[in-house]
Amino acid sequence: MARFHTNSPLALLLVYPLNAWRDAPLFPTPPDALNDLPDAAPLEPGARVLDAGCGLGDGLIALRQAYPLARLEGLEWSRPLRWLCARRCPWAQVHWGDMWRADWSGYQLVYLFQRPESMARAWAKGCAEMAPGAWLVSLEFPVPGVQPHARQQAPGGRAAWVYCTPREGRMSDTTKVTTVSGITKPSITAE
Ligand SMILES: C[S@@+](CC[C@H](N)C(=O)[O-])C[C@H]1O[C@@H](n2cnc3c(N)ncnc32)[C@H](O)[C@@H]1O
Repeated sequence: MARFHTNSPLALLLVYPLNAWRDAPLFPTPPDALNDLPDAAPLEPGARVLDAGCGLGDGLIALRQAYPLARLEGLEWSRPLRWLCARRCPWAQVHWGDMWRADWSGYQLVYLFQRPESMARAWAKGCAEMAPGAWLVSLEFPVPGVQPHARQQAPGGRAAWVYCTPREGRMSDTTKVTTVSGITKPSITAE
């Protein structure tokens, strides 16, 4: 990915507003990081997928590689980054906006590469808005205290944490996590 360089703090502030910086600095998803994601989080063709905080589009590019038949959307708080992302990813819908104010209800998968502190909030929002059985995927940072559906070790050392929003009547499920060839998968047992 092309790295953003500037010597001017003003230019940096324009491209990267302070609140976006506080929520997550601009680190891109590495290439190939999400290639195995469909094994843990399968999607129907045409499923809607959101990269919440899409930066320059590297997450969208990795998602497209993993789910070539999905309808990909990005949401980015920085207007210049949104513009650059839309140029790099003309096959995706790239919106400007605050991910926390956006409605996630229409997405079958929401992908995040944010900060550790954001993950509890993201999980609460996903459970409140997304359909039961939808996927929340976080690169690098797990949701504290929540059993993942899977943990995939991505090339380059980062892990992808895969969560499934609770199905009705399955809130008290117990999840046993097992590791199979580098992928951690649960078997779910209803109590
Ligand atoms: C670590 S980067 C990840 C970029 C991209 N998702 C990827 O994986 O390559 C985090 C991005 O989230 C954006 N961001 C942070 N807070 C946001 C918010 N509240 N709403 C929308 N975008 C936000 C930042 O501007 C930054 O571009």
